[in-house]
Amino acid sequence: MLSELDQIQTDALAALATIADEAALEEVRVGFLGKKGRLTIASGGMKDVAPDLKKDVGQKLNEVRTAITEALEEKGAALTAARDAAAFASLDPTLPARALPQGGLHPLTHVLDRAVAVLRRMGFALADGPEIETEWHCFDALNTPADHPARNESDTFYFESGKLLRTHTSSVQIRTMESAVPPIRIIAPGSAFRRDEIDATHLSAFHQLEGLYVAPGVTLADLKGTLEFFFREIFGSRTEVRFRPHFFPFTEPSFEVDLKLHAIGRAAKWVEIAGCGMVDPAVFTEVNRKRGDSAYDPSAITGFAFGMGLDRLAMILYGIPDLRLLIENDVRFLEQFA
Ligand code: DAH
Repeated sequence: MLSELDQIQTDALAALATIADEAALEEVRVGFLGKKGRLTIASGGMKDVAPDLKKDVGQKLNEVRTAITEALEEKGAALTAARDAAAFASLDPTLPARALPQGGLHPLTHVLDRAVAVLRRMGFALADGPEIETEWHCFDALNTPADHPARNESDTFYFESGKLLRTHTSSVQIRTMESAVPPIRIIAPGSAFRRDEIDATHLSAFHQLEGLYVAPGVTLADLKGTLEFFFREIFGSRTEVRFRPHFFPFTEPSFEVDLKLHAIGRAAKWVEIAGCGMVDPAVFTEVNRKRGDSAYDPSAITGFAFGMGLDRLAMILYGIPDLRLLIENDVRFLEQFA
């Protein structure tokens, strides 16, 4: 038995000396140490060994197993090292590293970040609301009657449930007043959706930033001062801002705000950028009705609201001639803002 064990060891080491890959290594392992391997079978013979020889044979068996196991490990390590060396052979670690392409923020994100930073400094807190809205939040509560053209199926995306894709962020005014009491001073940036024909100044999914300030004694002068300060902060102190009387169902009086757009290679022109006005008391009354209290008592509080187009803000800020550039994801365009 002792000589048989010696022979097994000799054969195992000889087999290992000739192999060149990991599959062959595994074959050798199984052939000697596996369930039906030669050493495993030989060790089964222990039970027939005479009692006075058991100790020597057992010791030998352990030595042989250890020798084969160590040789297998050594060979495995050598094979791994050889594979690594081959992989590195074609690589020159002294070459300078290649820079990873850097991502950048979308121009709209830049504009949004700047707008939010200015308004937060003025005390406005961020508010939020769903893009899939009820008709009540988007229209009725904002004093917009059922026969208003904005509610037409040709202007608004409706779901079968009767809900709709909000046509403006003004619905967040209502959401905020439902859950908080005055004084409130919030801004709500977000997406809005209309069945508009897409052209250089219209998209069917676009971005707005809503603002609402409600407290005792808020005036039109506060509204004008806030927006003028805002636009000068964003565009510089010489920015030309124009307020035009207008009509919105949820504000009285109402205005549209225009900014002068100086796009590269085009004649300067006024671009409509925001709607605004003093919150119509009818809006407060409807909010009170829904809340079941009189937190928004029109005889005790007033408010101003505004909603501006963020895509258009980006147009003016960067001199972008066509809004479609903002959604086409052409890297040559986007790279200029990174
Ligand atoms: N929601 C209006 C729109 O999308 C913009 C607007 C006008 C918002 C007047 C206001 C506002 O908050 O007071 O055209």
